[in-house]
Parts: sequence; structure tokens; C-alpha cells
Amino acid sequence: MTHDTTSSTPSVEVFSSMPQIDSATVVLGVETSCDETAAAVVMGGTDVLSSVVSSQLDVHARFGGVVPEIASRAHVESIPHVVAEALERANIDLDRVDAVAATVGPGLVGALLVGVSAAKATALALEVPFIGVNHLEAHLYAALLDEPRAEFPMLFVLVSGGHTLFVEMVDHDSYRVIGQTIDDAAGEAFDKVARFLHLSYPGGPAIDKAATRGNDTAVAIPRAMLNDGFDVSFSGVKTAVINYVRANPTVSSDDVAASFQRAVVDVLVHKSRRAARHVNARTIALGGGVAANSLLRSEMTKAAESEGVSLVLPSREMCTDNAAMIASAGWYRLRRGESTALDAGANPNLKLGSGQR
Ligand code: KG4
Ligand code: ZN
Repeated sequence: MTHDTTSSTPSVEVFSSMPQIDSATVVLGVETSCDETAAAVVMGGTDVLSSVVSSQLDVHARFGGVVPEIASRAHVESIPHVVAEALERANIDLDRVDAVAATVGPGLVGALLVGVSAAKATALALEVPFIGVNHLEAHLYAALLDEPRAEFPMLFVLVSGGHTLFVEMVDHDSYRVIGQTIDDAAGEAFDKVARFLHLSYPGGPAIDKAATRGNDTAVAIPRAMLNDGFDVSFSGVKTAVINYVRANPTVSSDDVAASFQRAVVDVLVHKSRRAARHVNARTIALGGGVAANSLLRSEMTKAAESEGVSLVLPSREMCTDNAAMIASAGWYRLRRGESTALDAGANPNLKLGSGQR
């Protein structure tokens, strides 16, 4: 049999012997979409029994970014150990696992296929359902891990290395993207500016730290498209930084970092407030690596308070890539009676709300 490993519409499998899905259902989650090899065991959708993340940061640091081929190989080497450790830390045997979930996209195709193959093989051997999970949807479930009873309608603000999305969420599995970046993702802008300032890799945490020592009004940075719809643009912010530093080479990197960070956070918070009003949100939820940013967390907290909406802020380790969010998103899909056929592949360009099953 031949099958397309990057199929965008894997078939939905309705498991004939679907187990009873409840608070005791144990899902093993696997995440390999980029440069983190992760596995986690989550019970009942929100009870994280273990979450193991093996970062490839050291492997990619000298290249200043993720090298796809190296990432795939590193996943192949790490995945058996990471899964074994997740089971050990959860103190369960493999046969206690009721379903296996893995990220099927978006991400680097070679990297995704390592996790998808490992998860499908495990599910097949255990004769339990496999659930293909959309990485973007999973970032949302990272936010809901701590606040499973957060109220809808919800504005989900996903700010990661690859995405900047404002998503209206009316209920589980009911999404509408109402705004996004028209150029760089927020995390990408952090990473590029950090590289330009010769700060350490990855750039987001390095800028976050440098900014605490800097003056955020030292460098004038434009805030683009503030009042145009819900899309954002960060390439002008990045260009303004580069032009300013070239014209003023003795400027303090801390001041540049602080001014840049303030500009990005101002845009994200301003747009979030407008978008939250537009969708009548009762809750704003943040997700993705940039949601670990200190200034964004504090400014979003103030904004939510003044808008009178609840804010769901995942812990910093749940903002960045992990497999607990994959297992959690998988549990919710399983509860809706969904699982994924074993002929499904990975989809590097998977969009939110489309074909993740
Ligand atoms: O969600 P994530 O772990 O991976 C993707 O799915 O992209 O996000 C990684 C991104 C990187 O661009 C990284 O620089 C950024 O999140 N990041 C931060 C912080 N921690 C991670 N950006 C700003 N401030 C931080 N503290
Ligand atoms: Zn991510």
C-alpha cells in the first residue's frame, strides 16, 4: 500500500471499540514538531502525571536557528528515552495507556514524522486509538490545563516562533482566526532582533532578560497597523531596530531590547483588547513561547482586568513546546469520539481548525 506522508486530509477513524473516556483515561502525548522532543502522560485531559521535554537547543545554537535535518535525527535518537522517562515519572506501565496522541502539524515535516511514526507504532502495538493533534490547538489546551473551566467565548492569543494568531473560540473545536501577522511571527521577531544584537539563542528569553536592564523609551519604534482590523505586522519593528543600531552603533543593547520588547507587547496587548471586545470574550487565553515573556504577562494581566475579562496564563513551561498539551488536546478529541486512522501522515502546513484528524 502507498500513502502520502504529508496528506492534508487524513481520514477520521471511528474506533469500533472506543474506550470509555473519562477522568481516568490516560493519554500518552508525543511532540516532535520542531526542536523539542517531548512526551507526557496526562489523565482525564488535565491531570499531568509527567511531562518530559528534551531540548535540542545546544545542537542548534551554533547555527543560530533550527536545522531541520539535524532536528529529525536528534528526535530519532531521543524519542525512545523520552517516552520511557515519561512513563517512569508517571509511575505507570505502557499497558495502562488508553490512547496515544502526537502532533501531526504544523511543523518541520521530517521532525513531525518521527513523533507520528513512534506514536502510531505504540498505538498499534497496544491496540489503542491514535489521535493526530494540531500543534496550534494544543497550545490552547496548554492554557486550559490549569483552567479547564475557563468560560467561552474566548479570545485565544497564540504567540510562538512560527505563529501570531488571534482566535475566537466559541467552544471546544469551534475556532475562527480573526487576525494574524502579515509578516514575521512575534517569536521570530524576538529571535531576529536578538541575533542582530548578538544576544544568546533563542532570542526571546535573552531579550526578556536584557530588557530588565534597559530603558524602554530610549529608542523610538513604530507600532504598525494599531487600529486596522486584527492583523499585526512586526517586520517594520525589526527594521526600525536595525536602522537605529546602524545609525547609533554605541547604543546600549539593553535599551534597544527594552524598547523593542515594549513595542511588540504594546501591539499585542492593544490588538488583544480590541479583539476581545469584538468577540465579546469572557476569557482571554495566551499560548505559545512568547507568552512566557515577562512584560507581555504583566501588561496582559492589567489589560484583562481593565476589560473585565478573565485571563488564562499558562505556566512558563506550558507556554513553550511540550507534550502535556498534546495529550490534553488528544483527550478532548477522543472524548468527542474522534481518533485518527493509522494511514494518516504529517502535514507541515496544517492550519488551525482544518484536517487535524
Ligand atoms: O511555542 P514555541 O516554544 O515554539 C513554536 O511553536 O514556535 O515558541 C518559541 C518562541 C521562540 O521564538 C522564542 O524566542 C520565544 O518563543 N520565546 C520568548 C520567550 N521565551 C520563548 N519570546 C519572548 N520572551 C520570552 N521569555
Ligand atoms: Zn509551539
